[in-house]
Amino acid sequence: MTTRINPSILAADFANFERELGRIASADLVHVDIMDNHFVPNLTFGLPMVERLQQVSPIPLDVHLMIDDPERWAPGYAEAGAFSVTFHVEATADPVGLARRLRAIGARAGIALKPGTEVEPYLELLPEFDQVLVMTVEPGFGGQSFRPETMPKLERVADSVRAAGLDVWLQVDGGISLETIGIAAAAGANTFVAGSAVFGADSPAEQIEALRRAASV
Ligand code: DX5
Ligand code: ZN
Repeated sequence: MTTRINPSILAADFANFERELGRIASADLVHVDIMDNHFVPNLTFGLPMVERLQQVSPIPLDVHLMIDDPERWAPGYAEAGAFSVTFHVEATADPVGLARRLRAIGARAGIALKPGTEVEPYLELLPEFDQVLVMTVEPGFGGQSFRPETMPKLERVADSVRAAGLDVWLQVDGGISLETIGIAAAAGANTFVAGSAVFGADSPAEQIEALRRAASV
């Protein structure tokens, strides 16, 4: 199984993003958390920041949109060159239509689900998406505790992906650490976002490899 470790720059030094990218050179993707203070009660950065990051990052960008009205904004991130663009199903009435627009631009299309959101309505739509993000905390802030009650939902997605023979990446985000990554891996995740666990470590590079090992047992 391929294991992907995506450090979240929400936990990086905002004054030194280019240098911070150098500390996570072995990462598979860079997770970029976009928050609008409407969909979630926090505000980060937007499209101009991502356009500039895209220019300087040797690592592909995994954009996580925690915003209202993703129809208006998500295609811009795909046009900026993001490798993947993930929007929340709670924020749109037409996830399939938006995913098709993102794929047409050339990005991988992801859907994200908050801890309280059921996945059943989306299981039959899985071929329309490249990634499903099962949030393991309430979105909005880094540094929260992993919520194990989200694991049955992840297992249901993993079962459906397997049964249909799809190549949909299963991502978890929130509270992922050396202690919790194995739980999410056992439930079927293969793509792991980690913010504070990576950037809070003395050596982010070593931490990425330790997380990779802990996810692979
Ligand atoms: C939370 C964000 C996460 C956050 C994870 O709303 O979507 O990506 O950066 O941070 P940690 O790994 O510290 O929980
Ligand atoms: Zn995120």
